[in-house]
Amino acid sequence: MRIGYGEDAHKLAAGKPLVIAGIQVESERGAIAHSDGDVVLHALSDALLSAFALGDIGEYFPDTDSRHKDIDSAEILRHIQQLVTEKQYQINNIAVVVTLDTPKLGIYRIAMKNQLALLLGLDVTKIGLTFKTSEGLAPDHIQARVMVLLQP
Ligand code: C5P
Ligand code: MG
Repeated sequence: MRIGYGEDAHKLAAGKPLVIAGIQVESERGAIAHSDGDVVLHALSDALLSAFALGDIGEYFPDTDSRHKDIDSAEILRHIQQLVTEKQYQINNIAVVVTLDTPKLGIYRIAMKNQLALLLGLDVTKIGLTFKTSEGLAPDHIQARVMVLLQP
């Protein structure tokens, strides 16, 4: 078995889209980012890379490279998944934690889990998705933390 862990955070600003786990969330503020700023897909991609000691997504998709501007994070994930497939491992389960003060994300939980299941080709029962506030400690940012367990 291999275990992987990844995190990502973005600052929030007015007028930006808020995309979490591939789902567009209704919000006055969104992530300031080079790409679509999807913290879950970025943390997940980093978690997969870390499981195989393959570095991090910045090495594969440098934010200094204009070709990656506004790139769909699902495309980043697809690329990283290919590396995992080459190692002949498959995901057993993932655990995702999103920290965001507002808006509340509960109404999006099913859609987000379904989207992750679709992207990963994984049963929805293998996807843990936890929402937390920062209790006001970090009201202007969004953070995701992801653990992944893989088996040969
Ligand atoms: O962080 P805290 O324990 O105060 O979160 C309380 C509840 O609010 C959590 O159980 C979570 O399901 C929900 N929540 C949410 N959307 C967020 C943050 C928390 O639905 N952005
Ligand atoms: Mg609490």
